[in-house]
Amino acid sequence: MQQLRCGTAAGTMLLAVLLLVSSAARAHNITKLLAKHPEFSTFNDYLTTTHLAPEINRRTTITVCAVDNSVMSDLLAKKLSIYSIKHTLSLHVLLDYYGAKKLHQITNGTALVATMFQTTGAAPGASGFVNITNFKGGKVGFALQDSDAIDAMFVKSVEEAPYNISVIHISKILPSEVAEAPTPSPSEMNLTGLMSAHGCKVFADAFQASDAAKVFQENAIGGLTIFCPVDDAFKAFLPKYKNLTAAGKTSLLEYHGLPVYMSMSMLKSNNGVMNTLATDGANKYDFVVQNDGEVVTIQTKVVTAKVTSTLHDEQPVAIYTINKVLKPRELFKASPSLSPSPAPAPEEEKPADAPKPHSRRHKGTTTPAADSPEDSPSDEDSADKTADDTGSAARLDGWRFVLAGISGLAALLLL
Ligand SMILES: *[C@@H]1O[C@H](CO)[C@@H](O)[C@H](O)[C@H]1NC(C)=O
Ligand SMILES: *[C@@H]1O[C@H](CO)[C@@H](O)[C@H](O)[C@H]1NC(C)=O
Ligand SMILES: *[C@@H]1O[C@H](CO)[C@@H](O)[C@H](O)[C@H]1NC(C)=O
Ligand SMILES: *[C@@H]1O[C@H](CO)[C@@H](O)[C@H](O)[C@H]1NC(C)=O
Ligand SMILES: *[C@@H]1O[C@H](CO)[C@@H](O)[C@H](O)[C@H]1NC(C)=O
Ligand SMILES: *[C@@H]1O[C@H](CO)[C@@H](O)[C@H](O)[C@H]1NC(C)=O
Repeated sequence: MQQLRCGTAAGTMLLAVLLLVSSAARAHNITKLLAKHPEFSTFNDYLTTTHLAPEINRRTTITVCAVDNSVMSDLLAKKLSIYSIKHTLSLHVLLDYYGAKKLHQITNGTALVATMFQTTGAAPGASGFVNITNFKGGKVGFALQDSDAIDAMFVKSVEEAPYNISVIHISKILPSEVAEAPTPSPSEMNLTGLMSAHGCKVFADAFQASDAAKVFQENAIGGLTIFCPVDDAFKAFLPKYKNLTAAGKTSLLEYHGLPVYMSMSMLKSNNGVMNTLATDGANKYDFVVQNDGEVVTIQTKVVTAKVTSTLHDEQPVAIYTINKVLKPRELFKASPSLSPSPAPAPEEEKPADAPKPHSRRHKGTTTPAADSPEDSPSDEDSADKTADDTGSAARLDGWRFVLAGISGLAALLLL
């Protein structure tokens, strides 16, 4: 809560905090790091083309296993789709920090490390894990978990910024049939299966049982973004869901989809009103996407949900998890009981919902007058509370509110 006191203190202090935050925000840039080493230029180009670079920059405590240009040309000679290349390269991003020293100190000789591929939803079982072996004599080998042989050897350290990012040179591509497999066409994607397998089973079950599934599947071809509430949130909401008419249920589910593909970086840079799959006519079933630094929120007139993770992101389909069910004002009344106090105490549930200096700065398509009273914390009925963030997250929201007018970057401190 030190930050909170800061936030209420003099402007100079705020500036100091801000400077701190913005330097943290630029912890590393893989494109720039690799640009110093022309032998990895093809690998570097493909990190950009596949949009893996921003994913790498967003994370800390990672290791990028780079391969040189000749090894990359062998991979490219296979004429894989860009998605298969992305999967393959994401197997070369280890979700832990391994500098040269740590590689040579691996306890008991081997370590099993998750890769970015494991987080994509495209990696069945443990196909996204890499086994690092520290051999006697100082050699270090890399193998996919189910490989019989060592697939690649450690060559040298390229860049190290402990413990944020390590870039190492390895001799070969880690050859994964799973990663290289052609990705199913979007129309064949099993949306329900994908959501079920990643913490949104309750939502997926409701979805499967409704008419909405077909609408989503049809949109998956041209562009689709799904915000699926995590199981705790949708479970708590089930009594209300069951109370809706069949048409209401379909609209509610369709309200969780956008008829366009939005990558995480698009969500962050395209704030404003969005039409959903439930939208039928102007100002119906829409919501506001709003980011505050790295945090993206979806604001209906009834509830504000936070995007908590990326479950799938491959054009034309993106699926994100959110921490609350999106309740459209067309189906749920915004409770007028709470006053739109502009200065909420930090303990309040969601003070960030009060005045929003950043709102609608990009599109300005909503009527400001309609917002303030309804946007205030009105969704906190008992059912939703169970699905809410922890108290500490709520307090952090309070801190975010304090700095909201100064910089969205401040939110990074929360991560
Ligand atoms: C690691 O990242 C943090 C911010 O996330 C930054 O303050 C620090 O300087 C970075 N360390 C190195 C060695 O780059
Ligand atoms: C990273 O570095 C590259 C090359 O210097 C630059 O074009 C890009 O804008 C940088 N990205 C970020 C997020 O700063
Ligand atoms: C290393 O091996 C010893 C003996 O086999 C075992 O007790 C220990 O848990 C292992 N440590 C790690 C980190 O795997
Ligand atoms: C990792 O590789 C080493 C050496 O090839 C092997 O002995 C070990 O069983 C492997 N571990 C796993 C979990 O695959
Ligand atoms: C989709 O996945 C679910 C859960 O894994 C499974 O029950 C269902 O049969 C799958 N549907 C299709 C069309 O493959
Ligand atoms: C279901 O609807 C009835 C009638 O509108 C209402 O009284 C009841 O509170 C609703 N139940 C829930 C869980 O929303």
